[in-house]
Amino acid sequence: MIRVASIKQNSKLLNCVGKLEIIKLTPEHLPVVFEIQHAGLSSPWTFENLQSTLENIHSFSFGLFLDDKLISFCLTTLVLDEVNILNFVTRLEYRRQGYANCLLQKVIALAEQQKIVSFFLEVRQSNFSAVRLYEEFGFVKLTERKDYYQNPTENALVMALNVKKQ
Ligand SMILES: CC(C)(COP(=O)(O)OP(=O)(O)OC[C@H]1O[C@@H](n2cnc3c(N)ncnc32)[C@H](O)[C@@H]1OP(=O)(O)O)[C@@H](O)C(=O)NCCC(=O)NCCS
Repeated sequence: MIRVASIKQNSKLLNCVGKLEIIKLTPEHLPVVFEIQHAGLSSPWTFENLQSTLENIHSFSFGLFLDDKLISFCLTTLVLDEVNILNFVTRLEYRRQGYANCLLQKVIALAEQQKIVSFFLEVRQSNFSAVRLYEEFGFVKLTERKDYYQNPTENALVMALNVKKQ
């Protein structure tokens, strides 16, 4: 298991008492990742899709653990100097307490250390919570993909962040 960071404090984290860690996710985390996104998403990924992401050699995926319990995860791939955010979920009962903010802050900090240049993602245009989260970190809308999502059919916003060069 690769521990990336122990988190001592974060002004955004509310009601958080316990040991907080950011850990690089591997296929061993598949069952819990599957469970969280099935409980928390209207259109969850299949186990196979999650598996192929976590087994991908380009996986750059991290989880925030509170007392060894996975609370929030960010699945991404890293190809050359670009990160694609594919799936980002916080457990339902832990939402709006600052966990995704904390995790994304660490993922971006790691990217900066690794000289990553940019982040990209697609998000449903009605997903206000996620869009706000990304905007808080400086992501901007690049374009829209019409009818990109099904059930219900909806446009995707393509958002990007340029990471600071060192
Ligand atoms: C998007 C998601 C990951 C945010 O996780 P979270 O741990 O609740 O987020 P945080 O508490 O760290 O909030 C960070 C910021 O996100 C935004 N945000 C999160 N939830 C929000 C809500 N319900 N309404 C408005 N803004 C919200 C706010 O800007 C917030 O900052 P603030 O509290 O200072 O205003 C979570 O809502 C989730 O799992 N959603 C379902 C999966 C999903 O849609 N993922 C995105 C796919 S691209």
